[in-house]
Amino acid sequence: MNVVSSRAELAAARAALPGRVAVVMTMGALHDGHVELIKQARAEADSVVVTIFLNPLQFAAGEDLDRYPRRLEQDLPLCGGAGADLVFTPTPDVVYPTTPVVRVSAGPLGDVFEGASRPGHFDGVVTVVLKLMHLVRPDVAYFGQKDAQQLACIRRMVSDLDVPVEVVAVPTVRDADGLALSSRNEYLTDDQHRSALVLSRALATRDLAAGRALLDAEAGVDLDYLERVDPHTFEVTPDGSLLVVAARVGTTRLIDNLLLEEVA
Ligand code: PAF
Repeated sequence: MNVVSSRAELAAARAALPGRVAVVMTMGALHDGHVELIKQARAEADSVVVTIFLNPLQFAAGEDLDRYPRRLEQDLPLCGGAGADLVFTPTPDVVYPTTPVVRVSAGPLGDVFEGASRPGHFDGVVTVVLKLMHLVRPDVAYFGQKDAQQLACIRRMVSDLDVPVEVVAVPTVRDADGLALSSRNEYLTDDQHRSALVLSRALATRDLAAGRALLDAEAGVDLDYLERVDPHTFEVTPDGSLLVVAARVGTTRLIDNLLLEEVA
């Protein structure tokens, strides 16, 4: 496995990769959810690139950029073990040699749900995803279903801007107790982890009233939303095939979702 951090090294290593090239973009602090993305990419493509870049553009002032876990030494063996051929670990000045004045907008899809709580977040995500797509030049990119709104924004960006990259969604990986894996789970105390299980239990009811009742009854959990939405537009609709939930557990904001039927 080749590990590079400059644009020139990436370009040279990318040029040497054979066949259909997959990318898995991450912000590091890899867990089994990321490993699953890399393994699926490995199984389906000829070459696999992983990017590890904690993107400042998608964090607002006061969010958790400073305390976000960083542990490249542990991440690299996980990438290798899951079958990555090339890992790109740029610093912010490599990705943003100048302050980006021109950015991609996620549009209205970026303003609702997670975007309402985190203004500008999805603009920062689609901007870096497009830049990394230009730098890596993948044929296919794998993203987790766990971040369903991010996935919808990326799909829309790729479609609206005619980016020649196929986007593949990989099902959410969960702890044995049902908690969707997230690098932010590390912020939870044991008690908070137990409380956070109510998110997946609420989704499993597949019912808004029953789910909200469970969430409201859980001490230490502050529900933001539980809604049925269209998985492409995130419009709230009674027959939406995606159930999305967000709640604050202590100071940690957690999200999860459940597809009620296959997405067309
Ligand atoms: O999901 C993430 O880890 C990030 O939002 C992504 C897609 C790598 C962009 O920084």
